[in-house]
Amino acid sequence: AKPEPLRVMISGAPASGKGTQCELITEKYGLVHIAAGDLLRAEVAAGTENGRRAKEFMEKGQLVPNEIVVMMVKERLLQPDSLENGWLLDGYPRSSSQGIALREYGIQPDLFILLEVPEEILVERVVGRRLDPVTGKIYHLKYSPPETEEIAARLTQRFDDTEEKVKLRLRTHHQNVEAVLSMYEDITIKVNGDASKWDVFKQIDNALTELIEQRKAIPGTL
Ligand code: AP5
Repeated sequence: AKPEPLRVMISGAPASGKGTQCELITEKYGLVHIAAGDLLRAEVAAGTENGRRAKEFMEKGQLVPNEIVVMMVKERLLQPDSLENGWLLDGYPRSSSQGIALREYGIQPDLFILLEVPEEILVERVVGRRLDPVTGKIYHLKYSPPETEEIAARLTQRFDDTEEKVKLRLRTHHQNVEAVLSMYEDITIKVNGDASKWDVFKQIDNALTELIEQRKAIPGTL
């Protein structure tokens, strides 16, 4: 029989490296990457009413109201590809009410990954971040520069990636993080995110491999 698909959540402060690690995890494990921030930015770009409302909160570094976020994430988690291949949920839940909403829909993760990065590093990571609109890849002008001149010329910056806005995002993160962590304590692994992206990935990769091995060893979980 086909093994049960993995369900993984990844969390951490703004610019702690969630998106970067998600690129590596999905490449190796084939999980469907569902990023609350990306879903919201897609709504903003599409110019929908939800997108317009969401942008007001994102510009202030605040949480977008649950009536917009919860259904959006839940619907994506219940799409056939997520059910079939497993999922990697990035940036959700960000409050206990968001976690409770998922639980009520019977959606629970197998593993909760927490990326830990000292605060003084986060601002530099945010202001140097660039995105490739063609491939969706995440770059950093210093730590992960684009491979070619052609890519460099088309890179864009997120509207909330300024020093002033990241400070607001960090404040929101601090207000909510403990409540979320307490919901997943028994399945949490803490990962040192202040290392090269490959060294960070090694820690995550080991935890995922171990989880898969454990499942193989316990009858009835395959
Ligand atoms: P979201 O898009 O989720 O932003 P965030 O949490 O602030 O996280 P980021 O995407 O900024 O960072 P990341 O951890 O993915 O880091 P990355 O890998 O890019 O949310 C945006 C907004 O949407 C929120 O403020 C909120 O308003 C709203 N929102 C989202 N979810 C919501 C929810 N559930 N409920 C309500 N509202 C919600 O890395 C950052 C940079 O560092 C890159 O340049 C990268 O190249 C570099 N880097 C990465 N790893 C390393 C490394 N190991 N060494 C050196 N550099 C590195």
